[in-house]
Order: sequence, then structure tokens, then C-alpha cells
Amino acid sequence: MKKTVLVSGGAGFIGSHVTVELAQAGYDVVIADNMSNCDNTNYCGVCQILGKKLPFIKMDFCDENAVNNLFADFKIDAVIHFAAFKAVGESVNEPLKYYRNNLLSFINVLEAARKQGGCNVLFSSSATVYGEPEELPVTEKSPRQPATSPYGDTKQMCEDFLHDCVRAYPGVKGIALRYFNPIGAHPSALIGELPRGVPNNLVPFITQTAIGRRECLSIFGDDYPTEDGTCKRDYIDIVDLAKAHVSAVTRMVEGRMKEDYEIFNVGTGRPVSVLELVNAFEKVNNLKLNYKIAPRRPGDVVAIWADPTLANEELGWKAERSVEETLAAAWAWEKHLAGK
Ligand code: WQD
Repeated sequence: MKKTVLVSGGAGFIGSHVTVELAQAGYDVVIADNMSNCDNTNYCGVCQILGKKLPFIKMDFCDENAVNNLFADFKIDAVIHFAAFKAVGESVNEPLKYYRNNLLSFINVLEAARKQGGCNVLFSSSATVYGEPEELPVTEKSPRQPATSPYGDTKQMCEDFLHDCVRAYPGVKGIALRYFNPIGAHPSALIGELPRGVPNNLVPFITQTAIGRRECLSIFGDDYPTEDGTCKRDYIDIVDLAKAHVSAVTRMVEGRMKEDYEIFNVGTGRPVSVLELVNAFEKVNNLKLNYKIAPRRPGDVVAIWADPTLANEELGWKAERSVEETLAAAWAWEKHLAGK
């Protein structure tokens, strides 16, 4: 029997890639999104890649009745919860917006899971929970650090909500996936990241500069204690990241979890500095990027990368694409958008 996976925020960057991988792995996928931070580009791209229309429900997960109706209308075997705001800086200026949206939407999902007598719940968490780590690479046992933004707070709180609900409500099982830095786009160039306004994240800023939408990339600080002075991150290809979700969902629906609540790092284990990433982008795409060194960005950690051993062993998943392949895909996507 085919299993049904509900993807909240399924029209967004990560949600759309996960939807494609789930559908290609044989799952029935229901997409739900309030479209507050995207248009229908990725949904249309998903349907084009799959060659069929997937069920799409436009709804807000903060609306408890709407969430309950959704669970009543479909037999949901697993839910992957992406629907959340994610701009770190904005969350500092508008904390209530973040608390209301990110916490309430997840509470409604958990309530629906409880009411139906259990469900497999996968929460999209973030390496931001590790803060500035004392030891690198970080394992799932590395301590969480106090969050430095309301956005980070909501990730930690939602992890705790899930853990508490798993303990309290029979049949509710949970996995939190802690993403490092997801980048790139689907190899078809039909789905990808669609930042609204000026991008906060590095790779969309790079591709928009290369295409001429931005004049110059600012590299935030070259005086950090790293080899080339720029910060290091674990950039993970979006399709690799999406495949980790398929492995995690399959582990849940096949009843192969070792604990009812599990956490996995989703990263490559490969640290890359900002300058290395910029150089790799230039080389693989054979172009020159206009960039300058700018002051440090407040709140940035110096370096963080994953120890992905647990996910490798338990999920049977491993990041496969090179950073060059990923940056070529990101550029192909930007060109696809420009050609529209
Ligand atoms: C990466 C590096 C910047 C932009 C954030 C969130 C995290 C996660 C992913 C989100 C840093 C440098 C960036 C630019 C630059 N969640 N940079 N010039 O900060 O590691 O993680 O996004 O949804 O929770 O905190 O990612 O891409 O913003 O930055 O030099 O114009 O690139 O200083 O070193 P970050 P990022």
C-alpha cells in the first residue's frame, strides 16, 4: 500500500525538492502551503518534473481547523513540517511574528497527530541550534547553545515540542533533521530557491550578482581565525538534503526507528570557506564575480560543519554531490529564472 506524506510548506525551496524525491520514491504526497513566502513557480516545476499534478491545498497551518480538516481528508502516514518563517534578522525585529507563526503552526500539526491516534512527524530543524560550537565537527550529541535569534529559538522550541509529544502521546513518533547550509537547485533547473527581495543567504546573493541583479557581493569579514580569514560552513546540496528526508520518512513508516524521537545532522562533513565557495562558483561556471570584502555580519559563527556519521549509518544516506556540481545547478537555476 502506498503511504501518504503531507508536506507543509511544500511550495518552498526545501519542500519542493523533498516533494519530488518522495514522489519519485513511490510516496503519495499532499502539498500544503499558505504561499506567504513564495509564488507557484516551484509547485509548477514539481508537477512538470513528475509529469503529473499533485494535490495542493492552500492553507495556513496556524489555522487549527484547516489543519484538522486536512488530517480528516487524507490518511496521513507521515507529515514533514517546513512551513515556517526563516529570516534570522527579521526575527530579531519581529519576534512575535516568528513565535506566532513557527510555534503555532507546529502545535497544530502535533495536535492533529495526537488526535488521529499517532503519526510520524518529521521536523525541519537547523544547525543553528548548535550556536558557536566548542568542538568541530558537531555530532548530534554536541550541546545546543542558547539561541541568538527568535528564529533560532523557534527551532529549539519546536524540537522540544516534538520530543515532549512523542513522550506523552502514544503513536506519535518524531525525527528532527538538523540541516547545515542547503544550497543549489534541482538538476532540471525547474525548481530552486526564490528569495524575496535582497537575499540574506550567500549562494542566492552570488547567483544574483553573477546575473547582474546585484552589483557586488559583500564577503562579510576576512579576519576570522580560519585559513583564509572567511567563515566556514557545511554547504549541502538540496537534492542530497531532500533524499535524507526520504530515508528518514521510510525509516519511520517502516517502523525501523531505534527510539521514538531521533535527531540527525544533515550535512556533508566538508567545511568550505566563503572565499572557497566563491572561487569554486567562478571556476565551475567559468565567470568572474564582482565581490568585495566587507565588515563582519553580526551574529555569524566562525565555523560549523557536521559529523554526518549517524545519518550515514542509521539512515543509509550520504551526501553525494560535489560543491562544484551544486554550484553549477544553482547557476543553471538563476539563468532559468532570468530567461522567463
Ligand atoms: C553563509 C556565510 C556569511 C551572505 C543561515 C541561518 C541558518 C540557516 C541557513 C535558514 C556566512 C557569508 C553571506 C553574503 C557573505 N537557516 N555571507 N555575504 O548564516 O550560515 O545560516 O542560513 O533558513 O539558520 O542562520 O548562511 O548563507 O547567510 O551565510 O559573506 O551576502 O556566507 O557571513 O559566513 P548562515 P548564509
